[in-house]
Amino acid sequence: MNIKSLVRKNILDLKPYSSARSNHLEGVLLDANENPFGSVIENDLNLNRYPDPKQTEIRNVLSKYLSVNPENIFIGVGSDEVIDLAVRIFCEPQKNNVIICEPTYGMYKVACDINDISTVTVPLNLQYDIDVKKVLGSVTPDTKMIFFCSPNNPTGNLLSKKKIVQIAKKFNGIIIVDQAYADFSLEDEDIQSLLRYKNIILLRTFSKAWGLAGIRCGYAIADLEIIQLFFKIKSPYNLNKLSSEVILKALKKKNIKQRFVAKINKEKKWLINNISPLQGIEKIYPSDANFVLFKVKNAKDIYEKLAEKGIIIRDRSNQLNLKNCLRISIGTPAENKLFLSELKKIL
Ligand SMILES: Cc1ncc(COP(=O)(O)O)c(C=O)c1O
Repeated sequence: MNIKSLVRKNILDLKPYSSARSNHLEGVLLDANENPFGSVIENDLNLNRYPDPKQTEIRNVLSKYLSVNPENIFIGVGSDEVIDLAVRIFCEPQKNNVIICEPTYGMYKVACDINDISTVTVPLNLQYDIDVKKVLGSVTPDTKMIFFCSPNNPTGNLLSKKKIVQIAKKFNGIIIVDQAYADFSLEDEDIQSLLRYKNIILLRTFSKAWGLAGIRCGYAIADLEIIQLFFKIKSPYNLNKLSSEVILKALKKKNIKQRFVAKINKEKKWLINNISPLQGIEKIYPSDANFVLFKVKNAKDIYEKLAEKGIIIRDRSNQLNLKNCLRISIGTPAENKLFLSELKKIL
């Protein structure tokens, strides 16, 4: 697989911005027009100085957690930034297309739309897994990228890794495997087996199991050549010092993350067990994530009545093959109980 041959020519030719902190993080720093006296807010992080554009420390620490080389990691302002950058590196506006297996996370299409890249929708099969034949059958010479989300949002199921690999072997383009919810999956998504394929980019995030949606940090794990491209086009200082500091602290507390995951998975089981027998619940879909998708007779009505009570879930009815489907994020025990009692009243 020749990654360079897949990159947009203007990105290959790009002379990236060379930021002041690329070369020197310490010394008499008179190179970046910063405030030498300090910040208006007292802090220990030298916030008057720009952060490390190479994300060195955090990539080193994260690499140990993931058991991959730091060179294979790029950190973005949420995985949403990584999705956008990936589209911009590989897809030529108004020429290339991207395959999206729906129903899935909406930002893949939005990122393509923003960048003027057309999308080809390939429906997931009845089990919401990949239809390999249809995906490969939809590839044209202009197809540059395929998005897979596993566990898939909003259906909650894992996609078949075997099928992803099957496609990665045949597709001369980039495959994004978004594993935002992998922490909740009982099936340990091992990174190494997918990273063997040079054209696969894995996405993970601190926004879900780690409980850090507010700091906006997600990351790509991929071949060195792809990671270098992310660094080439990112804004100079995308990862700020406050978020980095929080992640460094968080990575020392992975046991707490595991406890959150156990708690959420326990609550998920409770919720599923309690919703299942209710009259008016047509189907509950199995979930490897921190949310559950369920089918009702009139999703809009239930969604609105819950909202009137101040309980906000997501109506996913407008997505492909999700007629009358609602998605609920797993809450605290008190929130889940409240949801259940209001749902019972409505039904
Ligand atoms: C599948 C999936 N990927 C990515 C994201 C965005 O993650 P981040 O907060 O890291 O941008 C979400 C958010 O809901 C998601 O569901």
